[in-house]
Amino acid sequence: MQLDCQNKMNSLKPIPAGNGALKVYIETYGCQMNVNDSEVVLSILQKNGWRHTGNLEEADLILANTCSIRDNAEQRIRGRIEQFALRKKKRPDVLVGILGCMAERLKEKLLESGKVDIVAGPDSYRRLPELIACARDGHPGIDTLLSREETYADISPVRTDRNGVSAFISIMRGCNKVCSYCVVPYTRGAERSREPGSIIREACELFRNGYREVTLLGQNVDSYRWTGTPEEADSPAGAETVDFADLLERVAAIDPLLRVRFSTSYPSDISDKLLRVMAAHENICRHIHLPVQSGSDRMLEKMRRKYDRAWYLERIRAIRDTVPGCGITTDVIAGFCSETEEDHRDTLSLMEEVGYDSAFMFQYSERPGTLAARQYPDDVPPEVKTRRLNEIIALQMKKSEERYAAMVGSVQTVLVEGPSKKGDGQLCGRASNYMMCVFAAPASGVLRPGDYVRVRVVGSTPATLMGEICR
Ligand code: SAH
Ligand code: F3S
Repeated sequence: MQLDCQNKMNSLKPIPAGNGALKVYIETYGCQMNVNDSEVVLSILQKNGWRHTGNLEEADLILANTCSIRDNAEQRIRGRIEQFALRKKKRPDVLVGILGCMAERLKEKLLESGKVDIVAGPDSYRRLPELIACARDGHPGIDTLLSREETYADISPVRTDRNGVSAFISIMRGCNKVCSYCVVPYTRGAERSREPGSIIREACELFRNGYREVTLLGQNVDSYRWTGTPEEADSPAGAETVDFADLLERVAAIDPLLRVRFSTSYPSDISDKLLRVMAAHENICRHIHLPVQSGSDRMLEKMRRKYDRAWYLERIRAIRDTVPGCGITTDVIAGFCSETEEDHRDTLSLMEEVGYDSAFMFQYSERPGTLAARQYPDDVPPEVKTRRLNEIIALQMKKSEERYAAMVGSVQTVLVEGPSKKGDGQLCGRASNYMMCVFAAPASGVLRPGDYVRVRVVGSTPATLMGEICR
């Protein structure tokens, strides 16, 4: 999955297009939630007669599902809008739509250049057919209203991007944490949890269709909370409250052969109950992504994170005590407002102490409208941010190398995803702790994506385990 807001671009694999139907091309930027949202968008459009294409050149509608988390993410998308405009020049009837966080943040400003016809925020996708019709009539189609209820619970995402083995399931939307640097609460709105019966049904259906791994997605899964009468057929009558640990347990109970992952956890909310549920179910993967952001209490307070360094380290201890062998990964921000060398050293020492398997590491990027942008000067010079980020990356490389090397000699259960990217006839798949493992295909018999295999780890790099199938 490699987690979270890597500003990477995914172009979904297309479904074969029916003759004559209008074709939609979609590019997805940012986090896993966006990947899943694009699958929801395709589902909505398919029901309205659109066909998905992976070829920009043949598209009648070009969509970009965008990310606003850092300025460079937005710059990249602006560059793409220019390229889409060249396409429009050749074929003026082609429509361009901007979806997601950038649509929500910039609203009608995106229409000003005349290069964009449709703007739809993360809670407006059901209205896309209407917005497209509007744009085809020559009027801009825009809807950026945020909702307190929308979870797209009844929409079956079109699974196109993955390997047929592993799928994302959104269990909630929005975020109520309001970290001072973060634009997400403004672009994705208030937190809301999806009805649990619809989540279980989606997971069951994926399992029936051959999927063997689901990742439950939310900005802060630990605050999942749903109260009401679930739609599950076998649920007892009457209202009940389902928290994230309860939900995870129910998904894990679907079948021992269905692996369950989740992302992202928030350090002050991750509960002992959740850790006990993880420990009790082998098919809940031994991996927690626990963004720390900084090792300095002063920075954490200024970031409005709701924990301090000591709390965070206690949670790490609780994870390691309750779920032995659990992989732990994180997110780190370098150069937040007023960060001193001492604050930076606190981050390095925390990373040293925890020993993460891997991390997403970013330079602070001021986002308009956030509390930090309004209240604190972005005063760490760019070259200092870069130097600190490089030090953080170098330390993490060393830690990753150690963590992966420590697995050599162990035996891991790997869920086969398919041929390894190197294309050298090897297979790849993840261990429960999320480490990617590469191994030679068996000399006799066939391994298919979705099979489990026991692999002895015989070598490592800072990002991959090399293994041999156990006989
Ligand atoms: N829900 C997650 C965060 C989602 S955003 C959590 O619990 O923290 C993914 C990551 O992007 C964050 O963890 C943070 O490290 C990074 N990020 C968010 N806003 C940023 C900004 N303004 N500048 C740099 N990095 C940022
Ligand atoms: Fe952003 Fe903090 Fe929520 S980083 S997504 S406001 S937990």
